[in-house]
Amino acid sequence: MSKFHTETVTHVHHWNDSLFTIKTTRDAGLRFRNGEFAMIGIMVDGKPLMRAYSIASPNYEEHLEFYSIKVQNGPLTSRLQHIKVGEELLVSKKPTGTLVLDDLLPAKNLYMLATGTGLAPFLSLARDPEVYEKFEKIVLVHCVRRVNDLAYKDMFENELPNDEIFGEWYKEKFIYYPTVTREEFKNQGRITDLLTSGKLFEDIGLPPISKENDRAMLCGSMAFNTDVSKILDDFGLEVSPRMGVPADYVVERAFVG
Ligand code: A2P
Repeated sequence: MSKFHTETVTHVHHWNDSLFTIKTTRDAGLRFRNGEFAMIGIMVDGKPLMRAYSIASPNYEEHLEFYSIKVQNGPLTSRLQHIKVGEELLVSKKPTGTLVLDDLLPAKNLYMLATGTGLAPFLSLARDPEVYEKFEKIVLVHCVRRVNDLAYKDMFENELPNDEIFGEWYKEKFIYYPTVTREEFKNQGRITDLLTSGKLFEDIGLPPISKENDRAMLCGSMAFNTDVSKILDDFGLEVSPRMGVPADYVVERAFVG
C-alpha cells in the first residue's frame, strides 16, 4: 500500500517571488495534530520526491494548506513553485512532529517563535481552539527579512479577530508581533535580540519569560533554533527531550529544499 495520498491542488497563491501557498484536497482518512508536518511532494522520473512540510491548515478543515519558500535550485521547490490548480500533490499518510500542545506543560502564556516559513505550524495552531483554552496569552513572533515576506499578516490582523469560532478569544488573548530585519518597519530586529534586550516584553506588556509562567514553540532554521533554545535555557525553561515527553518548550526545524 502506498505511503502517500494523492491530493489535487485547489489553490496556489504567490506572496512574492520567493514565497507561496498551496491548498489541496484532503483525504477523509488523514488524521493529524495541529502543528505537525507531513511529507509532501511530486513524482519525478517515476519516483516520489518528498520533503517535510508543516501542515498550515487546522485539522478540522476539509482542505490542506502548505506554506513554502521557492529555492531556485532546490530539488523540490524549484518544481513545486510551478504547480497549478488541478495537478497532483502527494501527501504522506502519517503526519508527525514535535510542535504539539500535548508536549507542553500547563502555564499562562505561550510563545510561538518563527522565522520565514517556520510560520507554517503556527498558522495551524493559531486556529486551534485548544490553544485558547489552555493559555491566557498567545504571542506569535514572526521574523522575516523584508516587509513583503510577512505572509499571512492580513490573516492575523484582519481575519482571525473576526473568526466565527474563536474571534472573541483571539482578540482577548492573541498577540501578533511581526518583525523585520532588513527594512524599516514598526518592529525591527531578530527574535534573539528582542528576547535578550527585553524589547519584546516591553512592547507587548508582559514580564520576561519565566519557567513558572511561560511555554514556547520554536520553528526556524537550525541556527535560529539553536540560538533561541540557548536563550530559553537561560530563562530557566527546559526543552522537551523527545515526542510525548511534555516540558517547557518544543522545537521544530523549518524545512526547505
Ligand atoms: P537577518 O536578516 O538578520 O539575517 P532567512 O531568510 O535567512 O531564513 O532569515 C529569516 C529571518 O530570520 C531574518 O529576519 C533573519 O535575520 C532571521 N535570522 C536568521 N538566522 C537567525 C538566528 N540565528 N537567530 C535569530 N534570527 C535569525
